[in-house]
Amino acid sequence: MCGIIGYTGPAPVLPILLEGLRTLEYRGYDSAGVALVGAGALSVVKRAGKLGRLLQALDGDTVEGTAGVGHTRWATHGEPNDRNAHPHVDPAGDVAVIHNGIIENFAELRAKLAADGAVFASDTDTEVVAHLVAQCRRDGATDLAEAVRAAVRRLDGAFAIAVVDRREPGTIVACRREAPLVLGRVSGGALLSSDVAGLIAHTRDIEALLDDQVAVLTRDGIAVTDLGGRPAQGHRFTVDWDIAAAEKQGYAHFMLKEIHEQPLAVRETLLGRVDAEGRVTLDELRADADDFRFVDKVYIVACGTSFHAGMVAKYAIEHWAGIGVEVEIASEFRYRDPILTPHTLVVAISQSGETADTLAAATHARAQGAKVVAISNVVGSSLARDADAVLYTRAGPEIGVAATKTFVTQIIALDVLALYLAQARRALFPDECRDHLARMEALPDLLAQVLDSEQEIAGLARRFCRAGYVMFIGRHVGLPIALEGALKLKEISYVHAEGFAAGEMKHGPIALITDGGPVVALATRGHVRGKILSNIQEVKARGAVVLAIATEGDTEIKEHADHVVYVPEVHELLYPVLTVVPLQLLGYHIAAELGRDVDMPRNLAKTVTVE
Ligand code: AGP
Repeated sequence: MCGIIGYTGPAPVLPILLEGLRTLEYRGYDSAGVALVGAGALSVVKRAGKLGRLLQALDGDTVEGTAGVGHTRWATHGEPNDRNAHPHVDPAGDVAVIHNGIIENFAELRAKLAADGAVFASDTDTEVVAHLVAQCRRDGATDLAEAVRAAVRRLDGAFAIAVVDRREPGTIVACRREAPLVLGRVSGGALLSSDVAGLIAHTRDIEALLDDQVAVLTRDGIAVTDLGGRPAQGHRFTVDWDIAAAEKQGYAHFMLKEIHEQPLAVRETLLGRVDAEGRVTLDELRADADDFRFVDKVYIVACGTSFHAGMVAKYAIEHWAGIGVEVEIASEFRYRDPILTPHTLVVAISQSGETADTLAAATHARAQGAKVVAISNVVGSSLARDADAVLYTRAGPEIGVAATKTFVTQIIALDVLALYLAQARRALFPDECRDHLARMEALPDLLAQVLDSEQEIAGLARRFCRAGYVMFIGRHVGLPIALEGALKLKEISYVHAEGFAAGEMKHGPIALITDGGPVVALATRGHVRGKILSNIQEVKARGAVVLAIATEGDTEIKEHADHVVYVPEVHELLYPVLTVVPLQLLGYHIAAELGRDVDMPRNLAKTVTVE
């Protein structure tokens, strides 16, 4: 998730771009850059690091133009450094492109362009677009708009792009597919931005571009077409948000915004996971692919919510790849003597890639001769840099201290890893792997359906928020979600909550059941549903008030639980991606009802870089 801003009009361009980037910096802060066109010239200034480094580079420079674009980056392809910073330029220096999202077929396009002699200056997927637009202009496109339409027709993925060309100094051409892009009309010109926050200092009359629409911004205003050049209309609306609300896109907290970003985050994390031969691939593989064929044991090490994602992965890796998995809290693993061999694979999960205990556990594993795969949301993070292979989640920056979209995308990335291992060991045929990936690709729409139950869950939160204690129970893949639901609730609402293996209830925890005490049960369809139904009956018989998370159409659950929130039916191993969402929303709304500082709960930090 990156920040995009663009302006054409009579006002000085650079100050407008820099102000927009300052507003959008929460969308990404790995690097920042601007490109301005005017009087036949194209000026590009870009730096790795936060916006301040770009401002230093621009200090005293008189970079002027009649139109320009700016970008603040959250890396998904290519380390965060100066050469991978946006904007990206074609070799002739005519065209500059900024981009938010993922070009899914960039490797294939890059290979074709390189075969035709193209030389690339960066490792990014974005640079391919600059080369393509320039090539389309050389191949006869009458103007920049036609060149962009021709180039975009060759792109796969989820993206928003903005392009300038020194030969059309007052023009910006933009296009989007899945990733957001909004436009604003101002006197004598126009603006574009990746979200409303970048526009509302100038206008509240907004037009959201729709998928595969192309916008041409000039001093005469904005013209929107489809990819065939036919006139089209985006979605026009007016906003009354202030800047703070706009950064949260109208949500009360970043955490709620990030819960609602999960469909797109899952979609982007799944993009480009199959190569041209239809085989599952990893982002960065520094070890020999054959090394994975002989893996005979997997340890997963992580902390907090990432540990719960590792617990979910255990079921997928054992079921699909047929490899034994142990999931360990990193702060425990690092101080014991695990029996590791060169055939042991250690999977270290950390959204920040900087958690001290997880870094230490990965180092401990490498010292014992094990291969380490990193699952991280931050390209170039400490954990990713030192690993033998990396799988990046593509959730974009997560501002809320409570992990939500990074958790769901970790599960997705870990399921991709499970399929990769199954493929390497020939435990699954390639077409079986593709079938599982296809099921996962259906999840974004199903997640959106689950999010539609938010108001129902907010009502339950008002009922449960006065409880002094909430119990979460689950079995099999429901157990890590019970633990995660309890963690979400306690870390942002300060209400005590505990997750248990439902089969353990009779071994002690059932003594905690009180009359009217809330119990949340993970009761979706699968081979343990009957057992969890018995557990619901057990706690009901002792006075509990039960909220069940169940599979759509399961009416029997309603006969036993006091409240039921339904999720769509999916493959048993994929339920955690859906069932965690009602629990995220329950924790959020209880905390909001109690007036907690949801995005920055007491005593907690987003990244725990100390032991
Ligand atoms: C989760 O909501 C918490 N913020 C915390 O448990 C977190 O998951 C843990 O600190 C691990 O962080 P990491 O993924 O960045 O390593």
